Amino acid sequence: MAIFFCFLFFLISSASACDRCVHQTKVAYFSKASALSSGACGYGSLALGFNGGRVAAAVPSLYKNGAGCGACFQVRCMNTSLCTKQGTKVIVTDLNKNNQTDFVLSSRAFRALAYKGMDQDILKLGLVDVEYKRIPCVYKNQNLAVRVEETSHKPNYLAVKFLYQGGQTEIVAVDVAQVGSPNWSFMTRNYGAVWDTERVPTGALQFRIVVTSGYDGKWIWAKNVLPADWKVGAIYDSGVQITDIAKEGCSQCDDGSWK
Ligand SMILES: *[C@@H]1O[C@H](CO)[C@@H](O)[C@H](O)[C@H]1NC(C)=O
Ligand SMILES: *[C@@H]1O[C@H](CO)[C@@H](O)[C@H](O)[C@H]1NC(C)=O
Ligand SMILES: *[C@@H]1O[C@H](CO)[C@@H](O)[C@H](O)[C@H]1NC(C)=O
Repeated sequence: MAIFFCFLFFLISSASACDRCVHQTKVAYFSKASALSSGACGYGSLALGFNGGRVAAAVPSLYKNGAGCGACFQVRCMNTSLCTKQGTKVIVTDLNKNNQTDFVLSSRAFRALAYKGMDQDILKLGLVDVEYKRIPCVYKNQNLAVRVEETSHKPNYLAVKFLYQGGQTEIVAVDVAQVGSPNWSFMTRNYGAVWDTERVPTGALQFRIVVTSGYDGKWIWAKNVLPADWKVGAIYDSGVQITDIAKEGCSQCDDGSWK
């Protein structure tokens, strides 16, 4: 254990501790709009409304078996005659299995890399060099929300997905219990942003969530989320929002904002 911590300390101190590591890659775009609503994260047609449709499929190292779903990145293209310096913000809604690029962007996001009036030029290129960094997701006047999936059925199966996850963290564990009860059932990530359990408490439900924060984890407690008569397909306000930032270690750090 001591060796592990020394090693971790070495890793973090040799690379600088960072909120926003900068990476270089190329990005392409989805030509079909339908690709958006069939993303691996399971957001379905809701993804069309995220961030004005500026969404992305991410490679496995960023998708992280679904823990990367909902993560926000700032992406800017390196062609200065074509692209703005601030680039665009994208939200991960899908897995990119093609290992040639770290992201495949929705065409809206891809076009948003270019200066006004030059979006047709960037579409013509089809593939551009970019740099990107993870940034906090900010949802104004919007809490973390819980959507009950269609596969749920009382009394013994509950599947939910988390929407509008703020901050720069990953959800690593989820528990559910009846409101006011200490009898927690753990949930398992089924796929993408969807968590499920076959031990469904009765009554109104509360959730506790572990997110990555700093170099560590943190509990987020949503004390009253689903009513006793929860309905499939419905979206419920969790009453809480996440603002934490999980730190990374890297050699190229840029905590400033790209303008
Ligand atoms: C940069 O963009 C311009 C304008 O569209 C284009 O003519 C040029 O080929 C691009 N350069 C690279 C390296 O893609
Ligand atoms: C990328 O994918 C191709 C085809 O699946 C494979 O042949 C290649 O080895 C992969 N490259 C890397 C760097 O993983
Ligand atoms: C805890 O909750 C589970 C799932 O709802 C239930 O099966 C179990 O009986 C409960 N245990 C206690 C001690 O209430």
